[in-house]
Amino acid sequence: MSTLIKGILDVSKIEAGEMPVSYMELNLLDFARYMSERYIPIASKKKITISVDPESDSAMVYADNELLSRILQNLFVNALRYAETRIDVSVKCHNGKTILCIADDGIGIPKDYREKIFEKFFQIDDVAGKRKYGFGLGLAFCKIAVEAQGGCIWVESEEGKGAAFKIQLDIAGSGAV
Ligand SMILES: Nc1ncnc2c1ncn2[C@@H]1O[C@H](COP(=O)(O)OP(=O)(O)OP(=O)(O)O)[C@@H](O)[C@H]1O
Ligand SMILES: [Mg+2]
Repeated sequence: MSTLIKGILDVSKIEAGEMPVSYMELNLLDFARYMSERYIPIASKKKITISVDPESDSAMVYADNELLSRILQNLFVNALRYAETRIDVSVKCHNGKTILCIADDGIGIPKDYREKIFEKFFQIDDVAGKRKYGFGLGLAFCKIAVEAQGGCIWVESEEGKGAAFKIQLDIAGSGAV
């Protein structure tokens, strides 16, 4: 229950603008690599490989270290729950923006739910019972926390073939911030 309360408080605080965003310049690719490595031991126990695309771009962003870390934690925990064999991480830059992608090869997300999953407490029902864990707060937190840093988050998915969660942030010094 305390996890639920903490989750609600976090989401409410950040919604009310009470969770300060403290910006620092950080390398998104290094950050993604660091976070990926943290989840490799858990992943290997589940026979899931986590790999960072070697063709990724190195991108500097202004972001809140702590918030970004919690965003990625939520995405990795979800991906580890649904992935069949692999989680692929990449960072790509385009037009002053950078996109960090965390993709799994799990059941994917039906079209009708691709926006709803970012709402508080929303969880997809599943007959196999695989879907319901937690409280449906993780992605709501991610959305609010990414938007608080001037970015956006969305999911691309081919049902049955996996889900790719993407976070777009401005590249530091691109003039967009
Ligand atoms: N990688 C994924 N593949 C398939 N479905 C997903 C994936 N990530 C999230 N979902 C769906 O989106 C719902 C919402 O995710 P969210 O992280 O907000 O909540 P949760 O994981 O159920 O609970 P919490 O994060 O609070 O522990 C999930 O319940 C699940 O139905
Ligand atoms: Mg979650």
